[in-house]
Amino acid sequence: MPKPRLNPRSLPYCFLLLFSAVISSKIVAQSVTIPVETQHNAIVFQTDKDQQLGTIYFGKKLSKAQEYTQVSAQYQQGSDFTGVLNSVYTPSGSTNLLEPAITVTHADGNNSLNLVYVNHELKNISNNVTLLNISLKDPVYNFKVTLHYKIYFKEDVIEQWSTINHTEKGNVVLHKYASANLYLKGGNFYLTQYHGDWAKEMQPEESKLSHGIKTLDSKLGTRADLFQPPVFMVSLNKLASEDEGTVLFGSLAYSGNFRTDLELDFQDNLRIISGINNYASPYTLKPNEDFVTPVFLYTLSTKGKGLASRNLHNWARNYKLLDGKGNRLTLLNNWEATYFDFNEQKLAGLLKDTKKLGVELFLLDDGWFANKYPRNGDVAGLGDWQENKTKLPNGISSLVKEAKQNQVKFGIWIEPEMVNPKSELYEKHPEWVVKQPNRAEHYFRNQLILDLTNPKVQDFVYGVVADLFTKNPELAYIKWDCNAVIYNAHSATLKNQSHFYIEYVKGLYKVLERIRTKYPKVPMMLCSGGGGRVDYAALQYFTEFWPSDNTDPLERIFMQWEYSYFYPAIASANHVTDWGKQPIKFRTDVAMMGKLGFDIVVSKLPEQDLKFCQEAIKNYNGLKTIIWKGDQYRLSDPGTSNTASMLYLNEEKTSGVIFNYLVNNRYAANSSLPIPLKGLDPEKQYKIQEINLYPGTSSSLKGTQVFSGDFLNTVGFNPDVNSGRTSVVLKIEAVK
Ligand code: GLA
Repeated sequence: MPKPRLNPRSLPYCFLLLFSAVISSKIVAQSVTIPVETQHNAIVFQTDKDQQLGTIYFGKKLSKAQEYTQVSAQYQQGSDFTGVLNSVYTPSGSTNLLEPAITVTHADGNNSLNLVYVNHELKNISNNVTLLNISLKDPVYNFKVTLHYKIYFKEDVIEQWSTINHTEKGNVVLHKYASANLYLKGGNFYLTQYHGDWAKEMQPEESKLSHGIKTLDSKLGTRADLFQPPVFMVSLNKLASEDEGTVLFGSLAYSGNFRTDLELDFQDNLRIISGINNYASPYTLKPNEDFVTPVFLYTLSTKGKGLASRNLHNWARNYKLLDGKGNRLTLLNNWEATYFDFNEQKLAGLLKDTKKLGVELFLLDDGWFANKYPRNGDVAGLGDWQENKTKLPNGISSLVKEAKQNQVKFGIWIEPEMVNPKSELYEKHPEWVVKQPNRAEHYFRNQLILDLTNPKVQDFVYGVVADLFTKNPELAYIKWDCNAVIYNAHSATLKNQSHFYIEYVKGLYKVLERIRTKYPKVPMMLCSGGGGRVDYAALQYFTEFWPSDNTDPLERIFMQWEYSYFYPAIASANHVTDWGKQPIKFRTDVAMMGKLGFDIVVSKLPEQDLKFCQEAIKNYNGLKTIIWKGDQYRLSDPGTSNTASMLYLNEEKTSGVIFNYLVNNRYAANSSLPIPLKGLDPEKQYKIQEINLYPGTSSSLKGTQVFSGDFLNTVGFNPDVNSGRTSVVLKIEAVK
């Protein structure tokens, strides 16, 4: 048996269990057992008689680690027939009969692969984070796969990916190359998935998984999440609710084509295989070259969706999202206020309005660039990142200066991956454009994609950002947009066109990496014609994302609700606009549930509306730390109730804010029942007070009310939401 290359003394206590199991595996002849344990859960792998490694347990951690090896005997689900149904990484072409994690053609043309356990090692990264590497190899071919598990103990989160490598006498073609291959047992499995389109992001759908394969995927190349994002949930046994049930949240962290197969097999077990979509992408791997897949991340909760989401939020803020625990800037954006129709004078007014409103930054949107083909609409100019001389004769630098005079910061919109055929860039560099040489061009929003597989294009895209900062060192914010999908995928310079989709994303990350090396913390918004590119790989480079161009607050309640399962509020850029029929208070309250911004004509606001906004921003500044960094509790689901209610509570459980909305306009719809709060300390006394009142109105709630945490958690509180009070914000504070 291979000896574990580990030093138990260097590991945290929790992993001692792993050791005892590894050591006790000596007793089980020829078998190696590897438990992967987080604070509450365990995944346990074990080798079979042929040294193939399978998952023998995935669920709540057992108190006696040695009992994991007794789990399998409790299942009587018939014959396996393949020996690899529970494989940690299912190879194809040998005994497998189901969906594989990996498919290859070896250098000699053979299509078979078998993977056996070689060894594993555990590395301590910090007190909380451990990396487990498991080596597998083909006994016949010089072909290796290393599975990596980055284990975030406290957050119950695992990031999993694989490295594929070979030393065969020629190239190997990878036809499929998953990041992860999970194996779950349960009575039934229920999938929560999302679909969408422009302005319709994050529409949830629930279904019971039936036998066969359900695939969630994207083939769009860029703006990859337009029709379907990579995030999903799987409830085990029964549909998990907010606070009950076992549920797995998963997502591929990747900004290109993804594919997740959920296969309910003939034994009624669930196999989840997730990775880069292999669509049109067989990858030719040279000897000694590492193919490293993106990360598939997941968390399991046995206490419902609420806990799973808070685990992901903590993990994201602590480890993934750029500057996840840092500050964010409130802002005024001019997209909907002006669209392409602005000039220096108009912007000077908007800069003053930024200050008057009380936000910290002015964000200049699309339309500021291009001269030969001015960007006065979405039909021309993309690619020509020089200030338009008619609109901005004194350039961006004069605007940055003027912003400073107004004591606000200045940010700018770019879409550097794109090009309009009507542009000087296109005329100069037709070879930089993604298109099929022998086919007609096909446009998405009148534009094409620049070929980021080409290092020269990478330099150009990096240069767009670097130039802006070189000329304007005080530039404080970037909104990075990506409005088109890839049609006619083809690069004029790439040797192997089958690598195009993969190399595009690699090129994008290379550029973002360079930007972050030079400008580590400048806040950047990840936008893609709305929420067309929201994923945890991109969010390593961005401080926030734009959930949708749909800012109708009623729609946003639902959308932000769904996003909030997977992403923390600090990452969600929410703007107050003129979308929707709701009053300014409702619109502002909804936007306050994340990172607040405005995109309205401040000068046209009625006086009382302006006064309301100014006061709301002050309130927000007092509450933002709780909203961004606190624990989020979903109290009343807009999908199943007349009211939506969301609580943000600080870690000490002493301060919080509850946002409540009426989401049903039918006769007498209201908050008829008290809404139980969550997470409060039952021993503490809390005072509840309504804030964000529109000038001249008073709260129907009688003054300040004090209750015990026990009362509020058990009975709840009625925010008195009704057609006369459609939006109610409550501040909750522990009192002595
Ligand atoms: C996309 C974005 C918008 C805006 C426009 C500008 O649609 O989602 O917020 O920036 O582009 O063209």
